[in-house]
Amino acid sequence: MANVFAKRPVVITRGKGALVWDINGKEYIDCMGSYGVALLGHSHPKIVEAVCKQAETLISCHASLYNNKRTEFLQKLVSITPKGLNKAFLSNSGAESVECAIKLARKYTGKPEIIAVMGAFHGKTMGALSATWDKKYREPFQPLVPEFEHVPPDNLEKLTEAVTDKTAAVLLEPIRGEGGVRVPPDDFLPGVRELCDEKSVLLILDEVQTSFGRTGKLFGCEHWGVTPDVMCLAKPFAGGLPIGITVAKEHVMSAFKVGEHSSTFSGSPLVCAAACAAIDALVKEKLVGRAANLGGYFKDKLEELQAKYKIVKEVRGLGLMLGMELRYDVRNIILKTMDQGVLILDAGRNVLRFLPPLVIEKEQIDKTISVLDEVIGEEEK
Ligand SMILES: Cc1ncc(COP(=O)(O)O)c(C=O)c1O
Repeated sequence: MANVFAKRPVVITRGKGALVWDINGKEYIDCMGSYGVALLGHSHPKIVEAVCKQAETLISCHASLYNNKRTEFLQKLVSITPKGLNKAFLSNSGAESVECAIKLARKYTGKPEIIAVMGAFHGKTMGALSATWDKKYREPFQPLVPEFEHVPPDNLEKLTEAVTDKTAAVLLEPIRGEGGVRVPPDDFLPGVRELCDEKSVLLILDEVQTSFGRTGKLFGCEHWGVTPDVMCLAKPFAGGLPIGITVAKEHVMSAFKVGEHSSTFSGSPLVCAAACAAIDALVKEKLVGRAANLGGYFKDKLEELQAKYKIVKEVRGLGLMLGMELRYDVRNIILKTMDQGVLILDAGRNVLRFLPPLVIEKEQIDKTISVLDEVIGEEEK
């Protein structure tokens, strides 16, 4: 495989709920959650059942033919998306969901410019990468797609100045994930919504990381009562199978004409069957409320560590999307906690990021905290 992933020295072979095991049988609490994909827990029985059943029935079916599982999924999807977002394009990843949103914004408005924020992460394909901020991802691949501008984050004044008559859309993550788990001030997103309405600019929310209950609401934007015109979804929506979803207001999505966008795998029956089971499990197991409750508990415990150790600068996040900023590089801590059976993500150089399955148990959070306590304590010595 191409040498593009910062590898950790471990071979994972099995998973169940919030736990994974390596090739030697060692157990880990999975606070990486496959970068947020394993939201329902690993090998959720309902996903396994749905995938097995659909695999025996029909795996592939191009979107130029109708398919009952795709229809069922689309119906379930628009029953949970914010009101008015009821036309979807299905793809295979977060970056693809953003690519679709960028094309759609240009097509709908007839304007070229997309405004994103410094610190944003929207994926690494050329269009999505043009909206992503980090130089290390962008610079080797210049020239990127033209007419992308970045403004300082959470700054309505700068954003207002940046909007011109060339602007098609403002593209934002409700909470910046890769950019350090940064929650905006409460008046920011409502202010952006107002600005976009006033200037007839589309608001695209990239909810690839913040949706499906992750933050303690079904969609991150619900924390601020804001509905975008276009929303990008991916990671956990198919219970672990690859999916990307761009969902938009009907009149916006209708700007696409036949052939202007497509993907061979768009809405495959296998993925749609898994996605139906994923929505059912999320609702039936009341995982959104669980994320809010357990997230609050987890955050309190992280804040106790912050009070105890000087190297912990800040704890941030909502629900089970949490970040702990340290005063230096987190790489060592990530490797040491892994040694002790806890997998943690980073979000930039000095932020530990926690995206555990929402089925994580309180005791598993306690164990994670006690391992962190020990490892951070050693580091601070
Ligand atoms: C907010 C956001 N947008 C887009 C992406 C890209 O998703 P993918 O890696 O599935 O292409 C990510 C991935 O982490 C993300 O967090």
